[in-house]
Amino acid sequence: MSLNTVDEISSSAATGSTVRTGSVGKPIERVDGRRKITGTATYAAEFRQDRLAHAFLVQSTIAKGRIAAIDTAAARRAPGVIAVLSHLNMPQLKKPPGGPKANPLQSGKTGEDRLPFSDDVIHYAGQHVALVVADTLEHARHAASLIKVRYQEEQPVLDVAEALSTAYSPKASFGRPLQHTRGNVEAALAAPGVVKIEQTYTTPVLTNNPMEPSATVAHWNGDRLIVADATQAVIGTRAVLATAFGIPKENVRVLCPYTGGGFGCKGFQWPHTLLAAMAAKVTRRPVQLNLTRQQMFTSVGHRPPTIQTIALAAEKNGKLTAIRHHTLQPTSPTTEFIEPCGLTTSKLLYACDNVTIPHELVRVNIAPPTPMRAPGDCPGTFAIESAMDELAYALGMDPLELRLRNHADQDGGENKPWSSKHLKECYQRGADKFGWSKRHPKPGATKDGDLLVGWGMATAIYPGNRRPASARIRISPDGRALVQAATQDLGTGSYTIFTQVAADALGLPVERVTFELGDSDFPEAPTSGGSNSAASVSEAILQAAAALKSKLADVAASDPESPLAGLRPEQMTMTDGRLAVASNPSRGLTYSELLSRSRRPAIEAEAQVKPEDEKTKKYSIHSFGAQFCEVKIDPLLPRVQVTRWVSAIDVGRVLNPRLSRSQVMGGVTMGIGMALMEHTVYDPRTGRPVTDNFADYAIPVNADVPVVEVEFTDHPDPVINTLGCRGVGEIGITGVAAAIANAVYHATGKRVRELPITLDKLL
Ligand code: MOS
Repeated sequence: MSLNTVDEISSSAATGSTVRTGSVGKPIERVDGRRKITGTATYAAEFRQDRLAHAFLVQSTIAKGRIAAIDTAAARRAPGVIAVLSHLNMPQLKKPPGGPKANPLQSGKTGEDRLPFSDDVIHYAGQHVALVVADTLEHARHAASLIKVRYQEEQPVLDVAEALSTAYSPKASFGRPLQHTRGNVEAALAAPGVVKIEQTYTTPVLTNNPMEPSATVAHWNGDRLIVADATQAVIGTRAVLATAFGIPKENVRVLCPYTGGGFGCKGFQWPHTLLAAMAAKVTRRPVQLNLTRQQMFTSVGHRPPTIQTIALAAEKNGKLTAIRHHTLQPTSPTTEFIEPCGLTTSKLLYACDNVTIPHELVRVNIAPPTPMRAPGDCPGTFAIESAMDELAYALGMDPLELRLRNHADQDGGENKPWSSKHLKECYQRGADKFGWSKRHPKPGATKDGDLLVGWGMATAIYPGNRRPASARIRISPDGRALVQAATQDLGTGSYTIFTQVAADALGLPVERVTFELGDSDFPEAPTSGGSNSAASVSEAILQAAAALKSKLADVAASDPESPLAGLRPEQMTMTDGRLAVASNPSRGLTYSELLSRSRRPAIEAEAQVKPEDEKTKKYSIHSFGAQFCEVKIDPLLPRVQVTRWVSAIDVGRVLNPRLSRSQVMGGVTMGIGMALMEHTVYDPRTGRPVTDNFADYAIPVNADVPVVEVEFTDHPDPVINTLGCRGVGEIGITGVAAAIANAVYHATGKRVRELPITLDKLL
């Protein structure tokens, strides 16, 4: 899909006269772009309050043990200090609901099960042990440095290998059965004449590093709590705060009009948010608590490391006969977070009768992990798509051909048809655009001067999630629409796409629609996680528009002077800023005329929608894609440079190709970081991250990322919702690390199964 329609749109907007509708599918610019670049977009940490006090955290320097004593005397005497909180004086919070039944995308979930400051036990380095509140940030930080904590240290378990004897197999991950077996994998692996590979692939700890660190500004107005929080979930945060403080949810308001990225680390609710609210309660002042970049590495989750062992067997023609995808992964003592590597990859990615995806967990004394862009699918596709590449070489077959021969025409894990799948088109269009057919099959055979050149590919996959959602629309006498939903915009483009969806539904140009989000007082919408927001909230907006149309139609029809008098809603249409006769749209009333004739200040409607379970449960809903890349490597200094990228992506209908491309580009960029750079390293003695800054935790910069060419199939999904759109936030990162590792092998003949692919592994 091309972006050249941008110019047509700008020029028609410039003429001003024509009412333009039909914006869904157009690459319009971000409606919040100007606010962001002019600095008028207010992020959580920028919410100002009179008498605002500042808090700073003190964190455990040991990984396991107990707090023997906390000496806060010097801190309490320090300039500006208002209060010091720790487990010694922390008022009790109530435990928010959790457990496997709670759906975190709907009802919120604490990032760890233990409440902050609830006892003297230390489970990991970086655990919050005290909070200082002072009149300024500098005073709070200084006083925090004066707090002396004495520990009774115990021997921590930091290493997965050390914890192996305590490994266990959880049954479910957020309500989905985690373990899966069909057919007889061991018999298929042992069958004579098959071609087999078996290898172990590892991914390190990766840390979510949004530009905006987490921050909370909390204040109490009587028994009402108002919180500005950097979050992916205003409703989830409201739910967790209400439960923790034992107050009705109506007494909590959570604001987050802008989120500066999250990638999952702002999806659940973390102790600092509860502590800021408690500090505000105790001090009777508004309190701001920001996490430093260093604290982001222990306080809001990370992607856990994975050890994945894959065994594949195939007939000589490439037909897969066995897939075993075993995952071993650490979680923390304070939460059971599962990175379900095989669940939404190997279980259903290819047609195969014998599949098993065992998953084991161990607990280590490291801060809790949490979702990070495409949890499960991202590291999972690194393993299975590397293994498929290895199998292709073992078979002497082109890697793309091997995927085509094993194309899954249905979801073999659930025995369900796909709602919509255009993966073959992705393979074809990606391969054509990339020039895959010109690939030399032999590793190390392609050169550009002295540089080794490698081409690699991998399949991308991510579930098409949708959750219950609601939205409200109000038309005012100026003919403008105000649309509200308690969703979030992480920089993904929610403001823009929901403006487009509402504009089309109402027959208005986007300039006359204002979409507001990030306020828990708005109609409820799910957590922006699992790439579900576009699919969920768009439907709520369509239904709210339909409800609004009924109301407008009733008003117009009951006015005997109206050109719409006596008509039923289904005989009318909303188009060109008017409610008009469907069979003759030249007859009708503009929304302004309608409102002024009815003498109403505004007309408003709200809708709550949930997925039609009977329909959707019959299908497996997923997005797919194909990643193709080129790397160049200087054999003397074997640093990998990614030089070309093509992503062909099937996410159903594309609401805005500019923003969707931006999401895929971001996913590919993050995947390049995962493949080549990112690695959170812990001190093996203390369990503290030693790469907790942007000097030591390298992420890609412009020079590391080539032009990312993105193709969309743009076929509406007939099952997921009316528009047929699936989310696009996460699929872009899937398959990326494998495509790069496969390209590195093609360039060098060296297979790297341990990320990141740093030059020491290629020497
Ligand atoms: Mo996303 S990792 O589901 O916020």
